[in-house]
Amino acid sequence: MKIDSVFFALLLLACCHLSLSQRSPTTKKPGSKTAKPTKKGVIPGPSKLSCDQSKPLTFSPLGVDKDLLANPERGFYHHHEIKLAKYEKLSTDEMKQWTKEGVTLALMIFNIEPFVKKPLSENALKNIAADFKLLRTGGMKGIVRFSYNQTGIKGNPDKHNFPKTTDAEKTQLLNHIKQLAPIFKENVDVINVVQIGFIGHWGEWYYSRNYNTELKKGEGWKPTAEQEGYRKEIVKALMEAVPKNRMLQIRYPAAKQKMYGADNLVPGADRTSEHARLGVHNDCFLTDGGDTGTFEPNKEAAQRNWLEKEGLSVMVGGETCAKNKNSGCTEAKKQIEKQRFTYLNTDFNGDVIKEWKSSNCYKYIGNKIGYRFELVKGSLQSTVKKGASFCLSLDIKNSGVAPLYNERPLEIILRDSKTKGSKSVKPIPYQPKVDPRTFLPGKTTSMKVTVQVPADLSSGLYDVIINLPDGSPSLKDVVNYRILFANGENVQDKTNRLNIIGQITIQ
Ligand SMILES: *[C@@H]1O[C@H](CO)[C@@H](O)[C@H](O)[C@H]1NC(C)=O
Repeated sequence: MKIDSVFFALLLLACCHLSLSQRSPTTKKPGSKTAKPTKKGVIPGPSKLSCDQSKPLTFSPLGVDKDLLANPERGFYHHHEIKLAKYEKLSTDEMKQWTKEGVTLALMIFNIEPFVKKPLSENALKNIAADFKLLRTGGMKGIVRFSYNQTGIKGNPDKHNFPKTTDAEKTQLLNHIKQLAPIFKENVDVINVVQIGFIGHWGEWYYSRNYNTELKKGEGWKPTAEQEGYRKEIVKALMEAVPKNRMLQIRYPAAKQKMYGADNLVPGADRTSEHARLGVHNDCFLTDGGDTGTFEPNKEAAQRNWLEKEGLSVMVGGETCAKNKNSGCTEAKKQIEKQRFTYLNTDFNGDVIKEWKSSNCYKYIGNKIGYRFELVKGSLQSTVKKGASFCLSLDIKNSGVAPLYNERPLEIILRDSKTKGSKSVKPIPYQPKVDPRTFLPGKTTSMKVTVQVPADLSSGLYDVIINLPDGSPSLKDVVNYRILFANGENVQDKTNRLNIIGQITIQ
């Protein structure tokens, strides 16, 4: 009796131990703390706490050429422009259609042209907030951009005479960011990432008379030193206005390097500095001329290498812009990985998307961009006593081209298999500290976790479930925002978007 209770206490001590082999090779083995003899000389050997009694689990991956596997914060997006001059709210029916397609993201591009010379009106702010609310109702997340001019340009934009009102002057622009800060804060849960935007036509940081200077006709545009300073002020203002747990994206690798240097971030080492919160959006993916100026002509190779590494820490996304010899499936499949794309526009460029569909790489691309978590193998014991603990080990592969960037927990749930389908999903009060952001693309992460079974659970067969819910309290229990592993029907509980790892009998 005495021995039993000592042993039980030791199990409690060990219950929250977790090791992640990919990142912590020096982690102590489970039970190592408890391995010294007790007063009575009883050695609760580590074997009792290890996975020795476990049976192997095997899993098979879902093919990447199958239907799009919808998962939050990654994948194809739909373009949604919000014209504040003539506000029309985001359509709930349209979002239902997007969900059916496997799309979970919308580019929320707020066209604030009427306010280029004045503060955003109360009504405009109300409408912006309303669209975020609708996104939440639709189970979507937004890639957010503000732009003062979305007018289409006929012919070569280089020959166009852009007016000074293509964007707002600095004082006005900074004031707009200040006005928007409470909306960012209020809606951070449904914000996937914020593109810096604001500057230039389409918010793409190029055709601008306030923040760029046109050289001789045909020789392109270049910011003056003063304009460089303005740009930095705007980036810093947005860094302040957007909650710290979200990233921003800048249009050009060179623009980030100018602010934070050309050294790559080390994955996972820093998640809070401005440097570690700034990704890149490439809105002319797969074109000539370094993706039409996305990469600088004289530094293209170096900037491409930099982006491939930087994308392991900060989010990259964008859209294609013209059909050409580089935009077909072969190069696209290669480049999504080289540039670590997390999201791409499914509406633009129409000809490129059409070709991806007819040449059968659309689904591949839609499944590979961003993270894609796949269970490879693992082990789990078949029975456990109430109040005792069991060990679960899992190898999880990220077969996508990028990591997950926004924080979210990994939860283990025991679910009574008899009441399956009902709402009685029972999480045990246990939160292992596995950070799914550390599952790097192309890598397999081994996790081993000892879970304690609550003593008051009734006996029976239980599903052992991994839940990857949203990191925001407001969305934690919302099914759409949970991550599904890229494994077959045995694993995926599609209704609840939970991942069934195996079964265990609780005695
Ligand atoms: C937006 O851009 C178009 C094309 O350059 C221009 O005609 C229009 O005046 C611009 N709008 C504002 C408010 O500057």
